[in-house]
Amino acid sequence: MTKDFIANYQAHTNIALIKYWGKRNQDLMLPVTSSLSLTLEAFYTQTQVHFSKDYDEDQFILNDQIQSAQERQKISRFLNRFRQLKNTDLKAQVTSYNHVPTAAGLASSASAFAALACSCNEALELKLSQEELSIMARFGSGSASRSLFGGFVEWEKGQGDDSQSSYAHPFDEADWDIGMIALVVNQKAKKFSSRQAMQHTIETSPFYALWAEEVAKDLEAIKAAIKARDIQKIGQIAEHNAMKMHATMLAANPSFSYFQAESLKAMEAVRQLRKTGLTAYFTMDAGPNVKIICPYSQVAAIQEKLSQDFDPQNIIVSRPGPQPFSIPLINQ
Ligand code: ADP
Ligand code: DP6
Repeated sequence: MTKDFIANYQAHTNIALIKYWGKRNQDLMLPVTSSLSLTLEAFYTQTQVHFSKDYDEDQFILNDQIQSAQERQKISRFLNRFRQLKNTDLKAQVTSYNHVPTAAGLASSASAFAALACSCNEALELKLSQEELSIMARFGSGSASRSLFGGFVEWEKGQGDDSQSSYAHPFDEADWDIGMIALVVNQKAKKFSSRQAMQHTIETSPFYALWAEEVAKDLEAIKAAIKARDIQKIGQIAEHNAMKMHATMLAANPSFSYFQAESLKAMEAVRQLRKTGLTAYFTMDAGPNVKIICPYSQVAAIQEKLSQDFDPQNIIVSRPGPQPFSIPLINQ
């Protein structure tokens, strides 16, 4: 192979309204439940991959910083899956930019592995389908399987140990009056990754026994609410689902929580917004930042109210986002 195998893709993050929390098979990255998310326009990752005989080993540069051996190995394992499909042992340079805080509960791993999967597919001319790419992205990070699509996306849990049966698909284009506001209370990387946290919860939390049943009910209800474009109902279900997920962590042993004082203040602020007649509901992931689901037509009013108590720079408004797309190559 003499020519350059190179591609650059942009993929957007997604925030789950019905959460994925726990794997039934850690090696195959198969989830305990299905989940449902909204892809966001405001937060994304751009990742270029360059396979070449000029590299003796894989390289991983994130936001212009060479990453640790541990991070590089994680990327190498992911690249191996694509190398296997192409039947090549070419090493690669991966150059990525996160337009989202890394490891802060704003889903950087979702946009990251979706972008990397798309770049590998194009660079190596594999011609994988969206569904196949969703499966490949899942191996990098479960939530990444959903970032292969825009709008509302459902990730099917699949059956048994069949790795090919668990992938995401578009559920609704979200081309109507819906938006999300990220209230960033702390941009720092978390100490406890989602991966460790969900496993610890499964292994030690007595409340986890209830989780799958709750998700099944919430998923059915939110799908009906999305089809009816009933934001109030969507918000109520999503807020309750997030709090149930966090409750499983509070009951873990030892117990832990991603809530910080500012997160609690943000949740209370959202409840107060509702009292003023605005339609706003919160959700939170494995990090202290709070995301608010609302009609896009109300974002200006919500932003104005929140600005009284939070730094306006930390209030980031987003419309629903698109599926990944190819972008121009970075100069080598
Ligand atoms: P988050 O809430 O940001 O998704 P996670 O702990 O789930 O946090 O994932 C963060 C991890 O994802 C990082 O520690 C890193 O290993 C990986 N990651 C983040 N951004 C990138 C990127 N652009 N390219 C490759 N891997 C990334
Ligand atoms: C709370 O997808 O980051 O954001 O599959 O181990 O990489 P791994 O975990 P990850 O977990 C996301 C957890 C969540 C909920 C969600 O996005 O559904």
